[in-house]
Amino acid sequence: MNDRYLTIALCKGRVANQTMELLENLGIKCDEIKDKSTRKLIFQDDVNKLRFFLAKGPDVPTYVEYGAADLGVVGSDIIDEEQRRVIELLDLGFGKCRMCVCGPKDAKELLMHREQIRVATKYPVIAKDYFHNKKYQTVDIIKLNGSVELGPIVGLSDVIVDIVETGSTLRENGLDVLEEICPISSRLIVNKVSMKMQSERIKKLVNDIKEKNSL
Ligand code: PRP
Repeated sequence: MNDRYLTIALCKGRVANQTMELLENLGIKCDEIKDKSTRKLIFQDDVNKLRFFLAKGPDVPTYVEYGAADLGVVGSDIIDEEQRRVIELLDLGFGKCRMCVCGPKDAKELLMHREQIRVATKYPVIAKDYFHNKKYQTVDIIKLNGSVELGPIVGLSDVIVDIVETGSTLRENGLDVLEEICPISSRLIVNKVSMKMQSERIKKLVNDIKEKNSL
């Protein structure tokens, strides 16, 4: 076997656990990653020559672009937002949710009449692309770092662009989905040089993941 370790950056939390479940079907096991009490960030599988590390979601494409990780698993929302030079290899089929424009029901009017509105979001690149390039609507984008649903409630913005999974955050705060931007799911990404230099191993890994998980 190739002596070089393949390094895989995983988005901390649920994505990391779901990725490990998928890899367990290939006989790749690393229970330590799923241990909620550990503060460790790097884990190694010496049998399969794999190294995993846990990063914040938006940093995963950064590690992969610079080659600090050969591969990464992260949501397509983050890939679209970060605009890093990486190759997307596979839709892993978990982490499914939707990127939506949300707000109070009466904000639908503002969207229909292409008014200059204020949009609060953690995803300014996606929001700008949607309003400017797809809807041809001029908007003010206000970047927030979380609890974005507060925007229309406290009068910071007219609408928000955010992820909707179960819809309960919207419901509990009296907001609705007004428009759907795109579906989201977790993706396997790869560094461009790694894809060339380690192509056999990476292609085999991708094929095994597909086969053993019926993707
Ligand atoms: C995300 C997202 C929504 C919520 C959607 O927030 O920004 O607020 O989850 O999920 P739901 O439709 O199942 O309710 P997250 O929990 O990541 O926290 P944040 O608001 O601090 O970003």
